[in-house]
Amino acid sequence: MAIPRDFINELIARTDIVDLIDRKVPLKKAGKNYAACCPFHSEKSPSFTVSREKQFYHCFGCGAHGNAIDFVMEYERLEFLDAIAELAGQLGLEVPRESGRRPDEGISRDLYQLMEDAGRYFQKQLRSHPQKQQVQDYLQQRGLSAEVVERFGIGYAPDGWDNLMGQYAQQPQLQEKLLTAGMLINNEQGRRYDRFRHRLMFPIRDRRGRVIAFGGRVLGDGTPKYLNSPETPIFHKGSELYGLYELRQQHRDPERILIVEGYMDVVALAQFGVDYAVASLGTSTTAEQFQLLLRSAKDVVCCYDGDNAGREAAWRALETALPMLKPGDNVRFMFLPQGEDPDSMVRQTGKDAFESLIGQAQPLEVFLFDTLTARNGSDKAALAKQAIALIEGIQDSVLQNILLENLTYRLRMGNVEEMKRRLGFQPKTVVQTQQQQTLKGRGTPLRLAIALLVQHPRLGVNLMPQPALAFLKMAGVELLVNLLELTQKQTLNSAQLLEYFRDTEEYPILSKLAQWEHQVADENVQQEFKTALVWLNNQYIEQRYQELSLKQHLTREEKLQLKKLIAAMKRP
Ligand code: UTP
Ligand code: MN
Repeated sequence: MAIPRDFINELIARTDIVDLIDRKVPLKKAGKNYAACCPFHSEKSPSFTVSREKQFYHCFGCGAHGNAIDFVMEYERLEFLDAIAELAGQLGLEVPRESGRRPDEGISRDLYQLMEDAGRYFQKQLRSHPQKQQVQDYLQQRGLSAEVVERFGIGYAPDGWDNLMGQYAQQPQLQEKLLTAGMLINNEQGRRYDRFRHRLMFPIRDRRGRVIAFGGRVLGDGTPKYLNSPETPIFHKGSELYGLYELRQQHRDPERILIVEGYMDVVALAQFGVDYAVASLGTSTTAEQFQLLLRSAKDVVCCYDGDNAGREAAWRALETALPMLKPGDNVRFMFLPQGEDPDSMVRQTGKDAFESLIGQAQPLEVFLFDTLTARNGSDKAALAKQAIALIEGIQDSVLQNILLENLTYRLRMGNVEEMKRRLGFQPKTVVQTQQQQTLKGRGTPLRLAIALLVQHPRLGVNLMPQPALAFLKMAGVELLVNLLELTQKQTLNSAQLLEYFRDTEEYPILSKLAQWEHQVADENVQQEFKTALVWLNNQYIEQRYQELSLKQHLTREEKLQLKKLIAAMKRP
């Protein structure tokens, strides 16, 4: 299945990102770059920029960014392989496939592969484990159909300490990786065992369908009811949504998405035909999750239990969502009767009645003012103060005005302008704060060197070897070494260079650095890069000098090296 690296490189080289994007989103020249209103969020003034030199796009408004492959994935809502096929098709190229065997089978299998295999293993246990009857009974008792169990890849982690681990008895490196992936636990006594035992397993997939974590439910009563994967290099629970991948398999362009609280809710709703629900992962919905949701659908309905905890969770969601809403986004709130959750509700009422409940969800402004009124009773001043604080943070001026008018009416004030003046209304602009947060200033020389190299990979070609860097003890220096190696061998542009890191932990930081405005003028890039490298080499010289001068007995070679180091340090 794997696609040869050279081919991906060639695709990026032969596709011009400016032409590619311009066909979908007309671009205007703006200085060195091209600009447009961002296709990934609604806006009135363009904060979406495309760089021909870097072959990269970046939106200052919503943070969307990437190369040609990312654009096709995001814009056409395609998976990676499909995006490759799309780009290849545009160039009239055939996508070559490497033969089935993966290189270094057994050792370099990555975390994704291990999680995928674990998911398969759990699914297999559901079909064939000696104790499968108990699990099947539980599924039946919960009313889950075989079809939906299959669609969500639900499985069973058998009872026992080393069922999954035992699959890798002869492969200690893979066990280490399973530990990193959160599937095994090392206790204080140094004992190692399966995290998930005798649980119904819900695989959590990322947007590309890769299994990145699990939620495991006890069969029946017991605590904790759900056990979840910890944060790992491939799983950050605040930026994933359970069920989003499965939803996209059903609807490429969903009109609305329902956000619920539990795995079981998502699965049960899907079984009953409400196949557009997702769940945040045991926390209140984060800004990142809202961003993901609002990029996928304009209408987002947040569904909560009718009790106090549900209303509080809804309020937290409202506070999170408000500052990120864009014109056209529609966030509503629905509350179920006491004691019900979406799972129990949809089983009672069926799809149509449940959907009519969704239809009756409260518009955001209704939920906002109802809650503030309930909280503050007749204290209009307190209500006004809290409302203003929320409204000030809103970016969507349409929504902001609706809320201001609503507030004016509720306070029985004459008009909006008067109300704004009397309450000292001062809108904040989030776009500004976001831009301030993007990396400003020059950072450390290491950061600068990496950023410059990512932005101008040609700097690496024909560069003198930098052997000292491999020995420098400094967090992050391996990344620079790695980049130097990649750029020395071949002429790459930024987009191609970044593509090498797509599924790695370094990808987010590299793509940030690719956009980093470090205020180095083009003509000074080479010089700045050299200066940063010299600084890093000097760091090594100092480190090594310290090391050797503290050592009791030096070998002949070490003595020689020490002499050289001292000479180097004396050089101006
Ligand atoms: P709920 O307690 O509402 O569970 O937790 P549920 O989804 O209705 O599940 P069933 O119907 O009892 O099987 C909602 C979500 O909170 C997280 C899980 O993500 C769960 O889906 N949770 C709950 C945990 O992470 N741990 C727990 O112990 C309980
Ligand atoms: Mn439930």
